[in-house]
Amino acid sequence: ARIPYRTLSGTSRLAGVMGWPVSHSKSPRLHGYWLAKYGIDGSYMPLPVEPENFQAALMSLRNLGFSGVNVTIPQKEMAMPECDELSDRARRIGAVNTVTFAKDGRLLGDNTDGFGFIENLRQEAPGIDFTSGPAVVLGAGGASRAILVALLDEESPEIRIANRTRKRAEDVTREFNDPRLKVIDWPVSPEALSDVALLVNTTSLGMVGQPKLDIDLDGLPTSALVTDIVYAPLVTDLLAQARERGNPIVDGLGMLLHQARPGFHRWFGIDPEVTQELRDFVLSPD
Ligand code: ATR
Repeated sequence: ARIPYRTLSGTSRLAGVMGWPVSHSKSPRLHGYWLAKYGIDGSYMPLPVEPENFQAALMSLRNLGFSGVNVTIPQKEMAMPECDELSDRARRIGAVNTVTFAKDGRLLGDNTDGFGFIENLRQEAPGIDFTSGPAVVLGAGGASRAILVALLDEESPEIRIANRTRKRAEDVTREFNDPRLKVIDWPVSPEALSDVALLVNTTSLGMVGQPKLDIDLDGLPTSALVTDIVYAPLVTDLLAQARERGNPIVDGLGMLLHQARPGFHRWFGIDPEVTQELRDFVLSPD
């Protein structure tokens, strides 16, 4: 008989996103779209878990037969010691955003944020070689770490890090111990931008409700790709300013969409596509 809604069964694959709070997360909408698009027997749900219950909840999800979970603020660091195995990039970044429960019960931790960052640039700025010159990365927090690791792996020739709290930039530079990483002044001088192929904002500046990012782009070549991890608003002041002077720009929404692909692939068996329709769907309130 026809049923009016989709039901789950004992063989449905289950996944979700753990965080506190998690109600703002776009991941259920994103994965739900892909599950429907590919006709997959599965579900992806928001999993609000208070930090003190994190470890128990993670083990419970494994014991309940979940395929895996995404982990978001503030639990990305907490997930690290719980994993039996970490991908090289998760270990270097120092945070886990994707946990897969292996058949033997082991927890495999990965961090796909840097992958999402790179894949977004590849898709949205095809033909632009963003490693043809130095990169300037604004910020030295968790998102910055993921992007720094990804750019190092993409053979970026030089990466300049500018952060309000200079010590944080120095600490990450020392930790990653790669001669291509250089700390530069915050705010960024026009000279530091004069030969740059990629400019990235990884700070929260420019986000709805946050102060705006104040940067003088005068020194930046118009060939440089400018991107922002902030996606609310979609076109930040930084991106509008860059577009105005003729630079190619890429907004931050795609990073969120692409970072979800490896988890979806592992849990549900298909590497899903990021399309304009998906972008619109994820942004639309309902
Ligand atoms: P995330 O995990 O999203 O990267 P985070 O680790 O809290 O978050 O890092 C936030 C980044 O935004 C940091 O680089 C932070 O600079 P500080 O290290 O000096 O705190 C930057 N940031 C946040 N608010 C800022 C502000 N008002 N001015 C300058 N930088 C700011």
